[in-house]
Amino acid sequence: MNSQDRRSFLQFLGRAGILAAAHPLLGNSLMSEDPIDKEFPIQGIQPQKQDEIILAQGLEYKVLVKWDDPISEKDRFGYNNDYLAYIPLDEKNSNEGLLWVNHEYLDTLFVSQYPRKADPKLKSADQFEKEMYAVGGSILHIKKKNEQWELVKDSIYNRRITGRTKITLLWDEPIAGKKEVMGTFGNCAGGVTPWGTILTCEENYQDYYGDYIYENGSKKHMASDFGWEAHLPDNSPEHYGWVVEVDLKTGKAHKLIALGRCAHECAKVHQAKDGRLVVYTGDDKNDEFIYKFISSKPGSLQEGTLYVANTEQGKWLSLDYKEQEILQKHFSSQTEVLIRVREAAKLVGATPQNRPEDIEIDPITGNVLITLTNNTPKGDYHGAILKIVEDHKDKLGLSFSSEIFLAGGTELGFACPDNMAFDPKGNLWFTSDMSGSMMNKPGPYQSFGNNGLFVFNPIKSEVIQVASAPMDAEFTGPYFSPDGKSLFLSVQHPGETSKSLEDLKSHWPDGGTAIPRSSVVVISGPAFESLMK
Ligand code: FEO
Ligand code: CA
Ligand code: CA
Ligand code: CA
Repeated sequence: MNSQDRRSFLQFLGRAGILAAAHPLLGNSLMSEDPIDKEFPIQGIQPQKQDEIILAQGLEYKVLVKWDDPISEKDRFGYNNDYLAYIPLDEKNSNEGLLWVNHEYLDTLFVSQYPRKADPKLKSADQFEKEMYAVGGSILHIKKKNEQWELVKDSIYNRRITGRTKITLLWDEPIAGKKEVMGTFGNCAGGVTPWGTILTCEENYQDYYGDYIYENGSKKHMASDFGWEAHLPDNSPEHYGWVVEVDLKTGKAHKLIALGRCAHECAKVHQAKDGRLVVYTGDDKNDEFIYKFISSKPGSLQEGTLYVANTEQGKWLSLDYKEQEILQKHFSSQTEVLIRVREAAKLVGATPQNRPEDIEIDPITGNVLITLTNNTPKGDYHGAILKIVEDHKDKLGLSFSSEIFLAGGTELGFACPDNMAFDPKGNLWFTSDMSGSMMNKPGPYQSFGNNGLFVFNPIKSEVIQVASAPMDAEFTGPYFSPDGKSLFLSVQHPGETSKSLEDLKSHWPDGGTAIPRSSVVVISGPAFESLMK
């Protein structure tokens, strides 16, 4: 359905009616007689350059938790929060649940106070431990009380997953000699499984223990940015770059080897009617690929086949060692194919993409949307949202069509789309990630101001800016509460271009002369109430 068809369709049925048709289990609570031809209830804001969150009229925000806040007697909230997922503890009460938070990466200036340009191998054991603790994820028990979300401070559920947490591998064979590895990091975006666990994705894993280049049967180590390999040389780069499943109630985690190893941004799960799983994931690096895993058994994240997209031919290409002669020539086993999945994908003919970031499935149309954030060496500065329409209605097939759904640029008023979310009425929300070093400077991003949060208005096929982030920050991990009245949102890396602690580019959220702190905020207000009517 193109945007014009979608508009006509929406006007004919009304947004809530369509959503109810697509999701009969949502029931009447989300139904409304409101016709779609009324005004979209949020008026956009202009681009901003302030060190504050600026919101559209009818919305307000509250900080839920910020970096280094205590979350339990022994744990503190991690650095650079990213992906969020809220899972109610009890299906009948959506006002109390567990919030998963990714802690993507660290900035040594703030976390370990180790000079950014110094030799990372020379940092002290204490500085190294601070860095290990800053990344991974947080599990927070939260509750809505007097219309405000708050952390349940003494909850047994509050805990951290860090660079030191023991994590098993969901695979038959060891990886680099281990079946249990140390920690997770680079946790960028993620997904939720039908059984209520979360998936967290190890994106820029090479920054911690480096990576390997595989040449003529040997491995050459490439040094990392943070120099952790000097402190723990037994932790192989091959232990990282995976999608990790976490049980929020127990904190137990395992790495999903079947989904391949790359700079995974996210993992979007669809469960087919026969119970099999389809998982979409992208590799956020210039000219890397879009993947899809189809399980061979209901509910399995281990048994199945990984495919990679050729978007020119509209085909999902198998990465199964047994099926692909070319993979048999280059690799010794399926395990090796998965460890070196970028090379394998290239060999079978995958189409290079402009940095695939988040992936969401439109709850109304079933289309798969993928943000391609930018690819500056190829001259793509503004990015786009790609739409994949699977030929097989339940997404189990191997052919599809694709086209650009929304193009970044001055016409629609956004650049570098990154994370996406659908609200319970089926509206598409997304955030932007223009690089801090290029924002508000002469060049391709000058007219866009700070990074923002946007919503697509299907009535007018326009993009509305709803929020503007503090200086240097990026909004990440948008996730709606089940009633659509609260938006959990990460504010990541405010003040990231600060040269020193004496020369700070942001003081958000505490203001004054305080250091900036990444935080989770909750956005709510009458504008969301109107949108959910
Ligand atoms: Fe961590 Fe691709 O953003
Ligand atoms: Ca980011
Ligand atoms: Ca991202
Ligand atoms: Ca990004």
